[in-house]
Amino acid sequence: MIAMGERAVTTRGARLLSVAASDLDGHIARVRALPWRGGVGRLIGDVQAAGLTGRGGAGEPTWRKLATVATTERPVVVANAAESEPASAKDVTLLSRCPHLVLDGLQLAVETVGATAVYLYVRPGPAARIARAALAERAARRWDLFPVRVVEAEESFAAGEEATVLARTTGRRTRPTRSVLRRGRTMGRPGPPDRATLVQNVETLAHLAQIAYHGPAWFRRLGTAAEPGTFLMTVSGMVARPGVYEVPVGIAGSALLDLAGPADDPVAAVLLGGFHGTWLPTATIAGRPLSRAGLEPLGARPGAGVLVAASAAQCGLAETAAIVHYLAAQRRPHCGPCRAGLPEIAARMTELAHGRGPDSHRLAGLVAGHGACRHLDGAANLVRSALDTFATEVRRHHGGECSCPG
Ligand SMILES: Cc1cc2nc3c(=O)[nH]c(=O)nc-3n(C[C@H](O)[C@H](O)[C@H](O)COP(=O)(O)O)c2cc1C
Repeated sequence: MIAMGERAVTTRGARLLSVAASDLDGHIARVRALPWRGGVGRLIGDVQAAGLTGRGGAGEPTWRKLATVATTERPVVVANAAESEPASAKDVTLLSRCPHLVLDGLQLAVETVGATAVYLYVRPGPAARIARAALAERAARRWDLFPVRVVEAEESFAAGEEATVLARTTGRRTRPTRSVLRRGRTMGRPGPPDRATLVQNVETLAHLAQIAYHGPAWFRRLGTAAEPGTFLMTVSGMVARPGVYEVPVGIAGSALLDLAGPADDPVAAVLLGGFHGTWLPTATIAGRPLSRAGLEPLGARPGAGVLVAASAAQCGLAETAAIVHYLAAQRRPHCGPCRAGLPEIAARMTELAHGRGPDSHRLAGLVAGHGACRHLDGAANLVRSALDTFATEVRRHHGGECSCPG
């Protein structure tokens, strides 16, 4: 159910995916402008006026990160294309189709904060190859202001989390925190000990480039007042046309599902936000704006733009059990709560999915109110939402039955 279509679907109003060009000449022909602004800090006001928020999951205002890092000495910039969420394909799609748009955005961010070291941290595979080729082309044409080092991401669920990103690129060891600005110490290798690092998702950087080309008013023509612009949504599961869709922030859930088209069975529930996300009945999201503000009252988030559709002919409990097993296998060895809690939750979820379940109250107790670890929180949130959304199924399983054929 989680397997993704490779295809990108350019929908009406698409901005990023509509400038697809893998070669520099094609890219220049489409954007028709040199984006460089010539100086530290110039773009920050435009990004603030545009209201751009991060597309990597947390949704932080991009201007604030830029402004904070721009005040520091010789900062570092990392473009994050780890795409470690298994249900997401947007960053690979974007980098493969529009590498120069992302790389323009990266150069602009570097120029804006006055960085002196630049990394592209990318999932190994086609996107990494295309990005390397695009960087070589730019180097040959002297297009870039700053050389970019490519670092391949590890293959793990946490590969894209900032602490892992910093450890892999700059060698810094930091504990995961929620701060936007990291002043990690450089450990294990010589170098300046206290350089701030701006970690920015590659989709965010592509939007930043378009704000530089077209201005903040153009950017605000789509999306909502609080969350302007478009965003990339990876739609998978029981839909006719799985793929990466570029849609305005705030599109209604039903409108996105219409774009992806119904499969043979109607969509009964959706998982929003990925493997740390939230199951909701389709009827609940049909008229809802897909935005952070629109989903907040439901306890959900778009995350990095992920929607997985499940039909009534599938067992949502079995799907959830499979995801929780994956998350348990991805737990961090150094994290006590995660190490102790996740295998237990995965085992109980599997028992419930197989109809041998203990009582689901016990499972609900296991996933209630964590907070010590984001990974455990994410898994607990997923299970809680499955128990709510598939409550009827839970009752059937307790009676030894399952609604799904087979
Ligand atoms: C478990 C976990 C995995 C993450 N994976 C990614 C990822 O693959 N790509 C990404 O850009 N951000 C990822 N993030 C979010 C990053 O930590 C960070 O917030 C983001 O790269 C910041 O960029 P933005 O402000 O442009 O969104 C992840 C966060 C967590 C907690």
